[in-house]
Amino acid sequence: MTEQQPHEENVRRSAGRIHAACRGLAPKIAIILGSGLGGLAAKIDDAVVLNYGDLPGFPILTVAGHAGQLIVGKLDGVPVVVLNGRKHFYETSDSYPLKTMIRAVHTAGVATLFLSNAAGSLRPHIGVSQLMLITDHINFLGLNPLVGPNDDTFGPRFFPVADAWDPNLRARMKQVAAQQGITLHEGVYVAFRGPSFETPAEIRMAQSWGGDAVGMSSVPDCLIARHCGMKVVGVSCITNMGAGLSDEKLSHAHTLENAAKGAAAFERLVSAAVKVL
Ligand code: HPA
Repeated sequence: MTEQQPHEENVRRSAGRIHAACRGLAPKIAIILGSGLGGLAAKIDDAVVLNYGDLPGFPILTVAGHAGQLIVGKLDGVPVVVLNGRKHFYETSDSYPLKTMIRAVHTAGVATLFLSNAAGSLRPHIGVSQLMLITDHINFLGLNPLVGPNDDTFGPRFFPVADAWDPNLRARMKQVAAQQGITLHEGVYVAFRGPSFETPAEIRMAQSWGGDAVGMSSVPDCLIARHCGMKVVGVSCITNMGAGLSDEKLSHAHTLENAAKGAAAFERLVSAAVKVL
């Protein structure tokens, strides 16, 4: 466990630093950038950059393609917080750093969390380098980040997730995508633990469950955010077809390469979306 100090104390201290970095901007939305989607960070104007290492309880990152910086500034004139990088559950079973990160942003006054990730497609019509709006998820991590004693300061012990991926925000995302001429598929995201990619049999299983894309992130983030009452919206950038659905050989380099191809549309979509979310 990374819990050197009481969790609440770390959340409060990190939230204080984020609040100071906001300089009165009052951002309503925080964006977590997924693998290969970090380019959006460079689009933030009037940026104040905080390294995760300077935010008590934040994750210390180890994966290539994840920077470990929190940026406060404006995206196309709209105040935002950008979280460039997070800790995955293939790196640790410890949800403490992710909880600190999301709860600190929420405590600093941010109401909505925009999640992004790289994912493998389970459906032929959802192609590589295209975007998928997450409508729902299946938690196949074998882990829920809220297991353990509940901290009532942040949210209730039991909470519903029937509308985890906010229906109103999803409707707005679809409108924005249509206005921008960006193809935005919709589907169910299935979270696998990783770090291995799936087997073809696992991919067939996820298809039969009603999944549309597979990945190794975002579900814990969504659950932590919903627990403390944040609204959540999310987009997957499809970097490959699920194992066995094509001849591609899966690797992290392949993920980053194809995420880069979808990044321009992703950045355009997010820049337009923050104005209406
Ligand atoms: N599986 C799991 N995670 C992923 C994939 C995949 O096919 N592509 C990108 N992230």
